[in-house]
Amino acid sequence: MTTETTAPNTAATGQAVLDARGVTMRFGGLTAVRNVDLTVNSGEIVGLIGPNGAGKTTFFNCLTGLYIPTEGEVRYKGTVLPPKSFKVTAAGVARTFQNIRLFANMTVLENVLVGRHTRTKEGLWSALLRGPGFKKAEKASEERAMELLEFIGLAHKRDHLARNLPYGEQRKLEIARALASEPGLLLLDEPTAGMNPQETRATEELVFAIRDQGIAVLVIEHDMRFIFNLCDRVAVLVQGEKLVEGDSATVQGDERVVAAYLGEPFEGAPGTDEITEVSAAETHADTTKDAAPGKETDR
Ligand SMILES: Nc1ncnc2c1ncn2[C@@H]1O[C@H](COP(=O)(O)OP(=O)(O)OP(=O)(O)O)[C@@H](O)[C@H]1O
Ligand SMILES: [Mg+2]
Repeated sequence: MTTETTAPNTAATGQAVLDARGVTMRFGGLTAVRNVDLTVNSGEIVGLIGPNGAGKTTFFNCLTGLYIPTEGEVRYKGTVLPPKSFKVTAAGVARTFQNIRLFANMTVLENVLVGRHTRTKEGLWSALLRGPGFKKAEKASEERAMELLEFIGLAHKRDHLARNLPYGEQRKLEIARALASEPGLLLLDEPTAGMNPQETRATEELVFAIRDQGIAVLVIEHDMRFIFNLCDRVAVLVQGEKLVEGDSATVQGDERVVAAYLGEPFEGAPGTDEITEVSAAETHADTTKDAAPGKETDR
């Protein structure tokens, strides 16, 4: 994985990979997604944020054939996507799920191999049952799966059962499984949920590395630091409608977004009172350099 590119890559952006127009999803009387337009261009990482229940996952489900939108159209590289999830995957759109969906009793490697079934002639059942044509394709497939496990840093756990992985590694394995279908667009639904700050930072690098391999990314996250570090563009969904879309600065500075979602500055950021208190303490420490450590200068 490269760690060289950490800034948004605007130079390489190009034609629309994903073009969703007027997507609406109704459940009975509830309109979960209302008339949403969103494009993701090649070379881009686009963020989708919004409060709980805003319709983000429902929108992903509309993009990936899990739901057939009540209205609207979704195109991938200019072609309307078929309303079946396995056909959407085969077309080149892969995703991970907010609630991890791994085969818990399969190994790490097997989970990635299952993710490859749309790209192998033999298909899923042949892969699982070790059918006649399978052996032939097996070696190449396994090599590619191991490459992906190296890429996400789980090669050393290839024979572990998925259910025995820590939560953060299960999320990474989901990404590897999605990549195994060799997508042109990857949709990530809360990839850092439940991760510690180090894992979140590593996931940021991983997403940059995925983008650098020519895969466009659309990512849902509640971690704003992650989103604003990562994304070329961010769209904000509130009550099913797209409220604002723009670069990180535009979105962070938009009063409606602050009111509807962002609220106060980043969680953990020091407030004015804390800053004043810390400066006062530092000044005090400077004037009491001779004081024994661990006494009154400690707070
Ligand atoms: N299959 C369904 N049937 C009925 N209502 C649904 C269905 N799926 C989602 N909804 C409703 O649609 C709305 C949007 O839900 P969704 O899960 O898309 O939100 P979200 O933005 O992903 O929220 P979160 O950040 O909590 O994951 C919610 O009111 C939810 O209850
Ligand atoms: Mg969701």
